[in-house]
Amino acid sequence: MTSFERDARVMQLHDQLIEIEQRLIPTGLHVFGHGGELKKKTDLLRMVASFERPEHGARALPALVAEGLKIEGAENLLRETSPSETRQLIDNLVSESVRRFCETGADAAVDYLSSTANVDREAARSTFGFLQNVSDQLDSNHELDSFARALRGEYIAPGPGADIVQNPLVLPTGRNIHAVNPYSVPSRTAFTRAKDTAEELLRRYQTEHGRYPRALALVLWGLDNIKTQGEGVAQALWLLGVRPLRDALNRATEIEVIPLEELGRPRMDVVMTVSGIFRDLFAPTMALLDKAVRRVAELDEPLEMNYVRRNIAERMSASSVGFDDAVVRVFSNAPGNYGTNVNFMVMQSAWDQASSLGDLFVTRKCFAYTRDSKGVTVEGREAPELMNDALSRIEATYQNIDSFEVGITDVDHYFEYLGGISQAVETRAQARPAIYLSDTLSPQTKIRSLEETVRLETRTKTLNPKWYEGMLKHGFRGVAEIENHVTNTFGWSATADAVDPWIYTEITQTFLLDEAMLNRLIDLNPHSVESLAKRLLEAHERGYWNPAEEVLLKLREVVERLAHSVGK
Ligand code: BEZ
Ligand code: MG
Repeated sequence: MTSFERDARVMQLHDQLIEIEQRLIPTGLHVFGHGGELKKKTDLLRMVASFERPEHGARALPALVAEGLKIEGAENLLRETSPSETRQLIDNLVSESVRRFCETGADAAVDYLSSTANVDREAARSTFGFLQNVSDQLDSNHELDSFARALRGEYIAPGPGADIVQNPLVLPTGRNIHAVNPYSVPSRTAFTRAKDTAEELLRRYQTEHGRYPRALALVLWGLDNIKTQGEGVAQALWLLGVRPLRDALNRATEIEVIPLEELGRPRMDVVMTVSGIFRDLFAPTMALLDKAVRRVAELDEPLEMNYVRRNIAERMSASSVGFDDAVVRVFSNAPGNYGTNVNFMVMQSAWDQASSLGDLFVTRKCFAYTRDSKGVTVEGREAPELMNDALSRIEATYQNIDSFEVGITDVDHYFEYLGGISQAVETRAQARPAIYLSDTLSPQTKIRSLEETVRLETRTKTLNPKWYEGMLKHGFRGVAEIENHVTNTFGWSATADAVDPWIYTEITQTFLLDEAMLNRLIDLNPHSVESLAKRLLEAHERGYWNPAEEVLLKLREVVERLAHSVGK
């Protein structure tokens, strides 16, 4: 290794450590009726203050600090994903000001930023005024009161449903959450943000493969698109190279094609699998997506610049399929059905070959939402042959993460969807797709591979003492959460073979080989400990890791001991 390569590796390591250190994680579960604690509030307010919020008259603190310090090229600096020293200086000043704000109040924070970074006092005062509102609302919790009122059949004030960082208007909690007007999706902001994410996704694929993917598969969820006002939808449109157009009633029902010269790249082919919740909430949006694909398919453009056209031409020349079938790109469950069941199959160990998980995904999700040759809406026609064919050309699969609270190992739904579709692609395209996630929450959009995301989640949550001690404060439920995380991690092995063996090794060491920890867990919740040990043994039996014989013995011993004490 040359000294240059060594230095580059050290820098990469540094970037990774910073990424792990800065990641916001939930340290414990939300307790109904309780406000947050100070440390958590400080972290949350720092994130809230890192976005420009013109609608609240509040500038982003990092931008104010950069301006106060007269840093050149501040805009690019603040978009960097690997933080420079200057960026760290800014972040430290911002963190300290928010800490002072939480402990002493807005005046102290404004004084601090004005004296250390020459930040404009008026602008800082506006931002901290806004943070004060958010902070007060975080402290006042109406959940129990509203719950009691709901039980009495009284009126509960409505409020939007979203992530606090994305939309602080979700506060105060304890209100009747409402969704969105589907015709407003995607919002203008969502569309602007989606451009960066979609281009970053393509850049990442190109860097790794030297070309664009033949086709991409996107997972779209309902709640995510509510929270982000349709960023996932907007990403699909960007990849196709079109914009939504609003009609006279300001409804996004039409499509405008972005000229190839402006797009600067070929139009991507995207296959969209939408959740049952999305289907129920966003019927007009599904029609918009279908319309977008058709419009792109009908453009008179060279095949090498329009992958939708290219793939449809290929499909129609190889079979007797007509245009209206070959163009179908939006799939979901049968009407009235939800979910893929892939999570249940994994959790119940009810599978032999990984391909069964992909087959189940297609069985559940192969319902086409489109139009027929007469232009009549088709709402859920069972079409496994169309989905199989669409998946056979996929080279990259992708999903957004839209919240710091819920990541890919917190719930089983990410692996049932993104893992499920990736597994389905693997047999149908006869190659494992590149699998990507983004977190669109950070000011700097970052695309990560699935493997990177699993490592990051494992380091910041499952193996992070701050995370698991936070969980263990909740006793029985906390141990169940740890076991859930391990099962969800296992789900990524089962569907996508995306978990490094060291992850299973360290989980075992942390929770089962450390006697003191093992006894603590057993005291709190022996059922979950038994499941945890069984899952780790299953991971070994299925070939995901290969621990030493004495580790296997220990795991079997734990199962044996608990089988008796749990009384089975
Ligand atoms: C959704 O928002 O569409 C969704 C939520 C939970 C699981 C799966 C999908
Ligand atoms: Mg659930």
